[in-house]
Amino acid sequence: MKKLVVLSGAGISAESGINTFRDSGGLWENHRIEDVATPEAWQKNPDLVLDFYNERRKQALSVEPNAAHYSLVELEKHFDVQIITQNVDNLHEKAGSKNVIHLHGELFKSQSTENPELVYDIASWELKKGDLCELGSQLRPHIVWFGEAVPMMDIAIDITEEADIFVVIGTSLAVYPAAGLVHYVSAGKPVYIIDPAKPDITFKKNMIFIQDKASTGMEKLKNELRITSDV
Ligand code: OAD
Repeated sequence: MKKLVVLSGAGISAESGINTFRDSGGLWENHRIEDVATPEAWQKNPDLVLDFYNERRKQALSVEPNAAHYSLVELEKHFDVQIITQNVDNLHEKAGSKNVIHLHGELFKSQSTENPELVYDIASWELKKGDLCELGSQLRPHIVWFGEAVPMMDIAIDITEEADIFVVIGTSLAVYPAAGLVHYVSAGKPVYIIDPAKPDITFKKNMIFIQDKASTGMEKLKNELRITSDV
């Protein structure tokens, strides 16, 4: 089976009802990154940071995967599919995708502030002051904040280098190092980019832009890949 690798971003969850970050009305319009998504924010005002991610978790619990997530599951019948997502929601897993790595962490996990390798599931929406790891230190959201290293990046690069087909869906490609992954696709392998807005990057010869939202864009991709839907 050919290896199909997907880089997804907030846009794939937009039709499920989760706001993106940088579109108008997006999350970063109403919250300052430096107040809620940096290690400094956590030092300065952990309550605000906990509240912000508690809200994100509440929202994520109230939504379902959309047709685009399910299309990626369907592709597993035809390809060895590996998803690299920048999203912290769990909609790829909820839809049934088998191989998902989260570059920017996961909403429904917490990590120890003393040892970031200690990671725990969060069953519902709330992470609060006084929730402690086994070493007795406060738990924080398991999110890769701005200014922090991206521990999954090396694995993501290895996977990208092996791709026969690379699909970028619903990301502005504005945040590095994730956005740089497209440069690791082997020469001559196709890169499909699905997004209603053209990302602000230099388009190379192997890049095919499908200007559409995620659900219908995925239908077009399946046509391109000659896959007939069995729904
Ligand atoms: P952005 O908000 O930067 O970009 C969202 C992209 O989705 C844009 O290109 C939109 O045009 C597109 N979009 C909007 N609606 C869509 C739809 N219905 N279908 C398909 N695409 C749609 O989000 P990301 O690129 O994911 O990091 O942002 C990258 C990272 O920046 C995030 O992981 C997050 C953020 O700050 C952290 O929080 C660490």
